[in-house]
Order: sequence, then C-alpha cells, then structure tokens
Amino acid sequence: MKITIVGAGAVGASCAEYIAIKDFASEVVILDIKEGFAEGKAMDLMQTASLNKFDTKIVGVSNDYSKTAGSDIVVITSGIPRKPGMTREELIGINAGIVKSVSSNLIEHSPNTIIIVVSNPMDTMTYLVHKTSGLPKHRIIGMGGALDSARFKYRLAEALEAPISDVDGMVIGGHSDLGMVPLTRMATRNSVPVSKFISEERLNQVMEDTKVGGGTLTKLLGTSAWYAPGAAVSALVQAIACDQKKMFPCSILLEGEYGLNDICIGVPVILGRNGIDSVVELDLTDAEKEHMSRSAEGVRKTNGLLAF
Ligand code: 2OP
Repeated sequence: MKITIVGAGAVGASCAEYIAIKDFASEVVILDIKEGFAEGKAMDLMQTASLNKFDTKIVGVSNDYSKTAGSDIVVITSGIPRKPGMTREELIGINAGIVKSVSSNLIEHSPNTIIIVVSNPMDTMTYLVHKTSGLPKHRIIGMGGALDSARFKYRLAEALEAPISDVDGMVIGGHSDLGMVPLTRMATRNSVPVSKFISEERLNQVMEDTKVGGGTLTKLLGTSAWYAPGAAVSALVQAIACDQKKMFPCSILLEGEYGLNDICIGVPVILGRNGIDSVVELDLTDAEKEHMSRSAEGVRKTNGLLAF
C-alpha cells in the first residue's frame, strides 16, 4: 500500500507520522515544493521508526512527482494555512491554483488513485478537483467532517465531564465556521442521548465552540492546527487502505443526496478500499435540513469564486 502526501508542512508531516505509527502502509511518500524540506521531514520521521516500532518506509521528495507513481491513496495538504482572524474561504485565491496543479500531477503518475483533499477552503477545493480531474466521484474525498466531529466529541466530553471514549457525535455540512452542522440531537454518551446529561443551553455552547474550533486554535497557535487534522486524515487513509467500511462525514460530490446537487459538502459516507462505498442519508429534522441548506449556500458562494 503506497500513500503520497503532498505538503510537508505540519498537517502533512503529522499525517505521515500517524500513518507510519499505525503501520498499515508499505510506503509513505511526502512531497513538497521546498527543496530538501520533505526529505528532512521524512528522515526525521524515519529516525523514530525503531522507537515507535513501525516498518513503514517514509520517503521525502522535492517536487518530483515520478516518485509518487502508483500511489493507492494521495493526500493534498499543500497551500497556505490560515492566519489568526482569517476565514478558510480567504485562502481560495492562492490555494485553488496549487490544488489544481498538484492534483493534475498526482493523477498523471497514479491514474487509479483515491484523492483526499485537505487544503482550504476544503469543500470548494474538493469541488475543484471534481471539475478538473475527471476522476469518478467515489475516488475524491474531502476531509473536514472527521476533524470537526473530533472537535465536537472533545467539547461534548468536556461538557459531560466524561471520557472521550464514552462520547459519540458527528458534524456534517460545510467545513467552515458558519457552515458546520453538529448533530447534537444524535450525540450520545455510551448510547444515551447527551440531552439526558446536559442542558440545551450548554449543548448550544458545545455546538458554537465546535464551529469555531479551527479558528480558536489559529488564534492560540498563530497558524492552523495540525495534530487533529493530521490524525483525522490518517483515519480516513486507514479506513480506505484497510477496507474498514467505517463511517465518516466527508465532503463528497452530491448528486441529489440530501436534496443537493453539484456541490461538495460533508455528509456521512462508508469508506472502503474503493474510496466511497456508499452515502448514508440521515433522517434530518426540519431545523437540521434548514441548517444544512444554509451551509450549502455558503459553500456555493465560495465555489462561485473559482475560475476554472
Ligand atoms: C482546521 O479546521 C485546518 O481547516 C483545518 O483546523
């Protein structure tokens, strides 16, 4: 199993580290445009192999896409991250060109690959890959909901004063501060609805804290987060690589599902060896449908900024 990660920045390198530690891939190639940077990250990570007990081979390359040939899964993290106070959507001007070029280079050398898009604004970047790559929809996946759901569970556990392993919950919709749809109604503490334990007011605070989870960290760190994004990507990669049939909210091209067409936005899907095995259509309440519809409007507005 060969995985390529484009972008040796903090998210890409964290993703490579988590994949290596899980040790399900034979090779991880990290590619970056900055001379020597990916080679350095790969060498540093390989020097943890004896300590972290993995045999996965991590290789770094500087802008040489021939070394990515035959990748089963490729991850696009390249592009500029947010600065404090920025929205993800403000990154489109620079990141759209990068994502279009990177995806084209990757597919040239791995025509049968499955693409996971991380670069922001992620839903729109995922849509861009659909419109420019020609890959079938089941092989283009945007990572946002897995990260947002992890932040949702973190905030739920905090409110419940419970271990995170007892908490479950999912965030669908756009990967944007205003567009996320945390499904508080379906969140549980060990199969019991969380509304049994915390007030509606506290649950609304959990929802709001989740929505700005990325921005909260950008203010603290001075740049976008990387540990949880890297871990979320590695979970999607593992679900595909190991044909786990796991369900994650991912940004995928909708063709009528959830009443939406010609848009990439986060919905629950089952991931397996071929990428998206199936889309899970939840029975949403009218309020959740309205929230999703508003979220889609926001994504379409950002999509409108694309110049193909
Ligand atoms: C985040 O929410 C980078 O969009 C990513 O942290």
